[in-house]
Amino acid sequence: MSRLEKLYEGKAKIVYATDDPDVYIQDFKDSATAFDGTKRGTILAKGQTNNAISARLFTLLSEAGVRTHFLGLDSDTAMRIRRLEMLKVEFVVRNVVAGSLANRIGYPEGAALKKPPLIEYYYKDDALHDPLLCLGHLEELGVVTPEELSEATAMARKVNQVIGGFFADRGLILVDFKLEFGRDRDGNLVLGDEISPDTCRLWDAETKEKLDKDRFRRDLGGVEDAYAEVLRRVLAGGTPDWAGD
Ligand code: TMP
Repeated sequence: MSRLEKLYEGKAKIVYATDDPDVYIQDFKDSATAFDGTKRGTILAKGQTNNAISARLFTLLSEAGVRTHFLGLDSDTAMRIRRLEMLKVEFVVRNVVAGSLANRIGYPEGAALKKPPLIEYYYKDDALHDPLLCLGHLEELGVVTPEELSEATAMARKVNQVIGGFFADRGLILVDFKLEFGRDRDGNLVLGDEISPDTCRLWDAETKEKLDKDRFRRDLGGVEDAYAEVLRRVLAGGTPDWAGD
């Protein structure tokens, strides 16, 4: 399938039109940003790694009955995706306290949640720096209908169950992650964007070592090795004995 014009270039991906108006190509980049674009860098081979990890997870999800935009791989760094009208809300699903939640509620990172998963909504608005929204804000803004909100929230919970179990089988704790949804031409709510170490926090189940973009955000070193390790485990079959590997 041939790429036509570039439709969008973001911090980590480029989206191209194709000769089919319902199919786009998303090409993953090695560049990385953090803290609202103020920190910039490159993670070598991230494009390939995130493409392969996202492809595997989207396939797993569609086998589990979750509609996703993934249609197939296009190249090492790119996938064919269904065109969606994206919701202006990001859904963050949290199983363990980390990142901005630790700062917001004052729990230490790694603390357990009383009733996981905890789900948060963020407004996709660069000018406002993607603020956290409460239910009243969502209603006021009208960025999602109550029906969309409950359907997307249920899908987010299902994604958490499916990929959380998959990662657990591979010795990884799915601490938290961000999802984006859109509507396809038939009006179905569909999971879009990516699922990768850029958008998930993943900790080794034994050592609690961080194997995700926090290594870049926090200058922990070993960024490429962490992404490669997640890819290795994602592509391997599940085994209950990762530590003995
Ligand atoms: P946070 O703790 O910084 O709010 O991040 C929660 C999760 O969402 C974490 O897994 C990283 C992911 N995330 C993104 O994918 N994009 C973003 O812009 C932010 C802020 C977080």
